[in-house]
Amino acid sequence: MNTPTTAQPPASMQAMIEAIDADLQARVARQPLPPKLIEAVHYGVCGGGKRVRPVLTLMSCQATKGDVEKARCAAAAVELIHCFSLIHDDLPALDNDELRRGQPTLHVRSGEAMAILAGDVMMSLALTWLTEDNLDDATRARLSHELATATTAMIVGQVYDTLGGVDESLDKMNQLEEIHRNKTGALIRCACRMGALCSQADEATLEAITRYGQSMGLMFQVVDDLLDVTQSTEVMGKATGKDESAGKMTYPGILGLEATRQTIEKLRQDALKALERFGPEADGLRDFCRFMAIRSH
Ligand code: IPE
Ligand code: IPE
Ligand code: MG
Ligand code: MG
Ligand code: MG
Repeated sequence: MNTPTTAQPPASMQAMIEAIDADLQARVARQPLPPKLIEAVHYGVCGGGKRVRPVLTLMSCQATKGDVEKARCAAAAVELIHCFSLIHDDLPALDNDELRRGQPTLHVRSGEAMAILAGDVMMSLALTWLTEDNLDDATRARLSHELATATTAMIVGQVYDTLGGVDESLDKMNQLEEIHRNKTGALIRCACRMGALCSQADEATLEAITRYGQSMGLMFQVVDDLLDVTQSTEVMGKATGKDESAGKMTYPGILGLEATRQTIEKLRQDALKALERFGPEADGLRDFCRFMAIRSH
């Protein structure tokens, strides 16, 4: 098995990412939208990004022995929701960030009104894209429900993160986990589940993929919190060192660096354990999980 020992993505992922990029570009280009709006959507979607969520959708489809071509619309749709969430996350009223993926944020480049509206249309387009590929109606309905539910959770998480309101009867660690599972975990879990739904996986298989997605989703945001403390703006392509000054609840802020690293290791193990019932067809998911635990940007 190919175990990455450096913070490079597994080589097998490169071709997948290139195909995802090309597919996103083509889908955006054929939207009948006003030129300024389409240009803003293109800027928000096609200007880089690790493509974590669509990779997870396609790899989850592979792991469940499905036809990856049938999962492309779900992969594109979940990335579109993610890109919308980043555009709104960066707005002055939320995190007030000026750099994203190494470029000016959309509101800096095109103004706040366009950033709000481009984000809005990306949410509605995502649901349209789910109906584009060769899937039966029942699968489309399940995918729509899945993506809409996860988007709602993401927005709830953003409310908790930005405005508070998370259940204060929970202890601090559980409050933090609740924020992270909503704002980031839900969409990553959804990305994985949609891949399995596209291959008509049975309930036990879907449940295993869900457990993998849950652990990966939380791990992803814990690593993001860690990199905000340990990594430079240049490497990340976005401002770092901001969470503490913005008063955000984060893993390093509450647990410190060492316990945060231990949490990542525990979540990595949980994610891999969820894949025990799968054969080599899940190696993509396994390698990706190991890489995501040690990523440097
Ligand atoms: C950043 O997500 C926002 C979080 C949920 C932490 P990514 O790190 O996946 O951002 P891109 O898509 O690669 O830019
Ligand atoms: C964002 O979390 C989660 C979203 C729903 C976009 P962060 O605010 O930590 O993401 P970055 O660090 O700006 O990418
Ligand atoms: Mg934020
Ligand atoms: Mg942010
Ligand atoms: Mg962050």
